[in-house]
Amino acid sequence: MNENILIAVAWPYANAEIHVGNLTGSHLPGDISARYHRLKGDKVLMITGTDSHGTPVTMSADKLGKPVEEVYKFYHEGFIELFKQIGISYDLYTTTHSENHFKVSQSIFLALQKNGFLFKKTEPQWFSPGLNRFLPDRYIEGTCYICGTDGARSDQCDACGNVLDPTKLVNPKSKVEGDTSSPELRDTEHFFIDLSKLEPDVIKYLKDRAEYMRDTVLGESLRKIEAEGLKPRAITRDLDWGIPVPVDDPSWETKKLYVWFEAVIGYLSAPIEWSQVSGNGEAWRDWWTNPKAKQYHFIGKDNIFFHTSLWPAELMGVGSAFMEIFAGDENPLILPYDVPANQFMNLEGKKISGSRNWAVWGRDALTRFDPDALRYYLTVNMPESKDSDWDWAEFVARNNNELVATWGNLANRVLAFCYKNWDGHVPDVELSTGGSRSAPALRPADLELLATIENGFNTVGAELDAVRLRSALGEAMKLATVVNQYLDVNAPWSAIKVDKDGASKTVYTALKAIDSLKVMFAPFLPFTCEKLHGFFNYETPLFGEQYTETVKDSLGEHTVLRYKPIEGLQWKPSELQPGKKLNQPGPLFKKLEIEVIDVERERLGK
Ligand code: MF3
Ligand code: ZN
Repeated sequence: MNENILIAVAWPYANAEIHVGNLTGSHLPGDISARYHRLKGDKVLMITGTDSHGTPVTMSADKLGKPVEEVYKFYHEGFIELFKQIGISYDLYTTTHSENHFKVSQSIFLALQKNGFLFKKTEPQWFSPGLNRFLPDRYIEGTCYICGTDGARSDQCDACGNVLDPTKLVNPKSKVEGDTSSPELRDTEHFFIDLSKLEPDVIKYLKDRAEYMRDTVLGESLRKIEAEGLKPRAITRDLDWGIPVPVDDPSWETKKLYVWFEAVIGYLSAPIEWSQVSGNGEAWRDWWTNPKAKQYHFIGKDNIFFHTSLWPAELMGVGSAFMEIFAGDENPLILPYDVPANQFMNLEGKKISGSRNWAVWGRDALTRFDPDALRYYLTVNMPESKDSDWDWAEFVARNNNELVATWGNLANRVLAFCYKNWDGHVPDVELSTGGSRSAPALRPADLELLATIENGFNTVGAELDAVRLRSALGEAMKLATVVNQYLDVNAPWSAIKVDKDGASKTVYTALKAIDSLKVMFAPFLPFTCEKLHGFFNYETPLFGEQYTETVKDSLGEHTVLRYKPIEGLQWKPSELQPGKKLNQPGPLFKKLEIEVIDVERERLGK
């Protein structure tokens, strides 16, 4: 059955380059799932974009001494370049700094207001007497009042993972360069979303998903709500950069919507923008008003609260009012199906740190390693249930012993052997035993191998459906080992000298198995599988192309990354035709020298 699948990935802040931890945390699992569902024939929309507002971005601009707009665009362009190079196949990768996103976010605000979930309240916030301005969120650091760690940001503590009440921070310090004045609390008026009213709905929403949501996501969210309850949260800030608060009152011009309140709304605004740029203004409804559609949120563990509590609460709070305001009908929006959040990836035993350059940066790594080699290691090491570790020695070992030795060599030696000895064609065999053609018929052992491989579409598929990507890739690799064993037993390289028919059967069988494995590996290793698909000389590629476009609106223009989908169902066993013409094969992967380990370790922390 074909399904409508929305793959929604966390919006990366435009304040730093993307590293391997970010890739394995959200973009890569999102991409693997999107590619799998596309091959399966599902209707997939994969979206996200640059999180261009909020103090993470304004502070990075302050540091660089450049306008925020320039800084967000600089990172945005770099992200797009990376996603193209490593094949993160967004149907639309956009930005929160667009007219469309402003409008959708403001409509959500108005819908919540209409339904009585917003209220205004004056509260003390940190203020810099030296700069004569408020210091929201990351502009303040101090000691976490929950875990006691220094250097906690006023809104969130990285050490204990808690979302904080800024005013309770111990020993607060301004983070603005050169601001030596001591922050003081001053009253300021803000809008709040009354999450406490929505708490029972959020709890029910989560419990309804208990069967399949990861315990690291569902259990933790519920335990937190039970322990602390959902409290009203401010959804506006004293900031210049961001989305205007949609109220008719000039005193609000110095305030903007809170970045987390609006960034999650990107999961709705991006599909709408995608519909507009694809010339079908209503297509987004297939993933948003169709109760059968499934929405998946690929995020890192530091984002869990915002996706399991704040975002569903916003959606439940708007009810049908968003559509009334935005589209003039009363269709309710659906709620996210699953939030397969990942834990963190460390690097050589230590937490990844951009500022200390203890990181493997995506674009930099791609100057030395092939995208599929990186994707492979990032998948076998994906922090699905607990933190994992990027280790350069393991990277080299896994590349050489698994990717190259088990899978790459299998494909390469069979194709090369066949190409050379069967004159560039698939051997001609009879596909079933006891056939009437003159071609040699497959033996029971050949059919047995093919049945085992066929079944892989179920076993690997079941793991992919359940978003157990490490295990899915492991299953596919196990099947590659089975084909290697089959080849060891049947040794066509020596059989060809005495029994060409027997060798034909073995080579045909192995080729067909490889042709199937190619599809199973394709979501993980799209570049090399596409290449292998080309050796098999098929007309339609496995995947579509990624390309960029410029979108113009009243805020200026922004670059978007897009994906051109391919029609047809390819998640199915190979139907390789005997006698088919092949293309000249070549190696798929590169063996890495052991020296790589020291060279790469040398770079860290410098
Ligand atoms: N920008 C945030 C981060 O990098 C993630 C935002 S996800 C969204 O941690 F849903 F809010 F957009
Ligand atoms: Zn803490």
